[in-house]
Order: sequence, then C-alpha cells, then structure tokens
Amino acid sequence: MEKVSIKFDYNNMMSEFVGRRGIKREEVAALSSKAQEAFYDVGRERGTGMLGWTELPYNQEDAVKDILSAAAQIRERFENFVVLGIGGSALGPTAVFTALCHFRYNDLPKEKRGGPRFFVEDNVDPERMNALLDVIDVEKTCFNVITKSGATSETMSQYLIISELLKEKLGDKYRDNIVATTSAKKGNLIKLAADEGFKTFYIPEGVGGRFSELCPVGLLPAAVLGIDIKSLLDGAAAMDEKCSSATCTKNPALMAAVLQYIAMEKKSANISVMMPYSDALKYFADWYCQLWGESLGKATDKRGEKVYAGQTPVKALGVTDQHSQVQLYVEGPFDKVITFIAVDKFRSDVTVPAGAEAFPDVNFLCGHTLQELINTERKATEYALTKAGRMNNAIILPEINAYTVGQLLMFFQLETAYCGALLNIDTFNQPGVEGGKNATYALFERAGYEAKKAEIDAAPKKNDKYII
Ligand code: PA5
Repeated sequence: MEKVSIKFDYNNMMSEFVGRRGIKREEVAALSSKAQEAFYDVGRERGTGMLGWTELPYNQEDAVKDILSAAAQIRERFENFVVLGIGGSALGPTAVFTALCHFRYNDLPKEKRGGPRFFVEDNVDPERMNALLDVIDVEKTCFNVITKSGATSETMSQYLIISELLKEKLGDKYRDNIVATTSAKKGNLIKLAADEGFKTFYIPEGVGGRFSELCPVGLLPAAVLGIDIKSLLDGAAAMDEKCSSATCTKNPALMAAVLQYIAMEKKSANISVMMPYSDALKYFADWYCQLWGESLGKATDKRGEKVYAGQTPVKALGVTDQHSQVQLYVEGPFDKVITFIAVDKFRSDVTVPAGAEAFPDVNFLCGHTLQELINTERKATEYALTKAGRMNNAIILPEINAYTVGQLLMFFQLETAYCGALLNIDTFNQPGVEGGKNATYALFERAGYEAKKAEIDAAPKKNDKYII
C-alpha cells in the first residue's frame, strides 16, 4: 500500500473565487490569533480529559496485538460478525467497512471474502432485527456488543435478545459467541462481561463515542474484515503530524475549522454538506454528520451563555445527488458550505465501449472511463457552484486505502475539536442526546427516573384538532 497524503483544497471558499459571499484573506488573517488559541487549547489537553482520542495512533500496541489475535480466531470460526451498537459505536465501523471492503462483500463467496459476513445493527426496528435473524445462523455468528456507557437502551435490548437466543441454542457455550467492547470503569456491560466471562475490549478513557473509530470500537470489526489496522493508525498519525502547526496555513484541519467558523459566524452558512464522489465513502458522510452535529450543536458555551451553536450537517453523494440536491445547492439560499471528497485513482475502472457512432449526443462518452466521468462531473459541479458564488472545498484522496482513510478520520476529528474550541463550547458532551435517553428511561418507568416521568406526564397533551 502506497503511503500517500490526502490534501485539503480550499480555493473555492475564498472571495477571490466565489465573489462577495466568500471569505476574504483578511478575515482569515484577523482570526489567526484566535486560531492559535484553539490549537493550543486542543494541544494542552491532548491525551487527557476527553481528548484521549488524540493519542490512539500511538498508545495501542498491546490492544492492537490482542485485537489481531482475536480477529484471527473470529475469522477462522464464524460465518458472520454482527456489531450491536448505535451512534459512535456503529457509524465508524460502517464507514470503514464500506470504504475498505469489496462493494458487495457480503455477497462474495467465503473464499473471496476471507472473513465472516458483516452486519452493523444500529436500530431497534423489530422488522430489521427479525430480518437479520432470517439471514444468519446465530450459532455461527460472533456478536460484538459495543457500548461505552453500557446503558444505552437500544444496544442493551439487542444484547438481551441475542444472548437469550444464543443460550437456547448453545447453553453455557453461548459466551464464546459474544465479544464486549465497553468502558473499563463504568456501566453495566463491563459488569455483565466480567460475570459472564465474555472476551472484552476496552474503550480507553477520554474517547467519546463519535471519536472512537480508532480504538477497539472500530479496530476489532476492521481487523475481522481483514483491514490493515496498523495502516489505519499510521494514517491517523501522519495527519496528526501534518496538523502540528499553530499557523492555520500550515495546518489543514485548523484551516478547515477556521473557514467553517467564519462561514457560520459571518456568512450565515449554517449548513455543512458532505459530498463524497465515491460510493465507498458514502457512509463516511454519515460518520461525519454525527461527529460534526453532535459535537458542535450546543445551546450554551463554556461561560454558560446561550449561543445555540452548530452547523447542520447534510450528507450527499456524488454523482447521484447531482440529480436531486445539487439544484438547491447551486440556486437556493446562500446558507451552505459544500465539502467534496474526491478520489484521484479508483481501485478499479471500467471503459465505456464504442457503439454509439450514430448518436453524437451519446458518442462523446465512448472510450472514456467511469473514473474520468465521475471526476469530471465533480469538477463540473465544483465549477457550477463556484460560478454561482457558493463556498465549496475539497478533500482529495490519491486513492482509498487504510492509510488515507486513517488520515481522513483524524482530519475531521481534529477539525471538529478546533472548531469547538473556536466556538468556545464543550465539543465532547451531548446533553441533547442524554435528554432523549433519559426521557426513554422515564417512559419505561425505570427506577430513578420518577421525576422525569412526572415532568413528561405534566407536559401539554396533544390536541386532536391538529391531527387530521
Ligand atoms: O458520540 C456519542 O457519545 C454518542 O453518539 C454515543 O456513541 C451513542 O449514544 C451510544 O452510546 P454508548 O456507546 O454509550 O452506547
């Protein structure tokens, strides 16, 4: 695998290219000391508090050995590997699987796959759970229960359903089909795992759900899939190194954060569209949406003042969404920044054959490859947006491999941390998510949530006249 670097192209964020609604060089310069402060804020806390994730590329030698040995056994023994988890425990594994495995991985014969079929179950839709059970044999399946808190209703419900089924089929041996990934210190899963004797991996302290792809949360599923996890971590380390300057012109993640900060604070661009031009990176946009939305969407800043910060993340896919959303991006409100993810060289290509000589409107495509077509269409959309005065930027991957995907993960994590520091908010909490979790506990009459239940019961009842 070639150790190539990804690049951040922000030309089209600048007023030189998009006109008066773009960002002026002076605006970036005016923010340089605030940007430095954000850089040092993040740097000061590296490896501590909720910034434990910054050290993951460097401090997991033992964990990686353990993961590789467990993954080898799972690959040998099981036909299926199912992740039970939600949010940060599911989006990273899905994004990396889609980016780095064969596009039809589960449909390939076992000898071509090399590892078990892979499923990520991140919802409690009963039809979906039953559908999974229709296509797997639980006895031949390894279930990786991933929950940092060990309290998440969705994941714990899934765990209870699956363990019951396994017990029915396998008796005491059911334990061999479950691997737990959780916090070493708190929560129910760690206690359950110890009582039952499950193989357990730990989510290090200071690694929040949405920042956890580079710890066992993401590394175990990736290793089971045969992905080179050392290259994933090396890529993340390389991006970390590339972002080691306090000067934003020399630090791509810091520059990206500064531009988004100016876009949202000064240009009313409250929407961030993530648009990879690659099906392999389609679910990377989902991972980004959680990272950006849950980290930056905060009511109060660190001084306790109401700020209602955040930028709404939207996922799009090139070229598919050129035929749906791009009309809005080019001509709708000036409230968006569009980020393309481009791939220079795809892992395989297809040529459009000759055979349309009689139809000049189609014939111009003949002899070109799909790689040329997808990348030309991206350039054309970039041009249309720029001409229409819409801010856009691009992350360019020379190719998709574990090393470039590791860089991509670290780039967006750092950008998010810097942007949170610029906004002076707590990037790493999620009181809004906890609010929903607590209301669910109360509605299920869980002990300890009586006050919440009373509060919900006292809320105004819906009026039938508004339901038609
Ligand atoms: O980013 C986060 O912290 C959340 O999205 C969590 O990942 C999600 O709520 C699941 O939490 P847990 O891992 O505790 O089950």
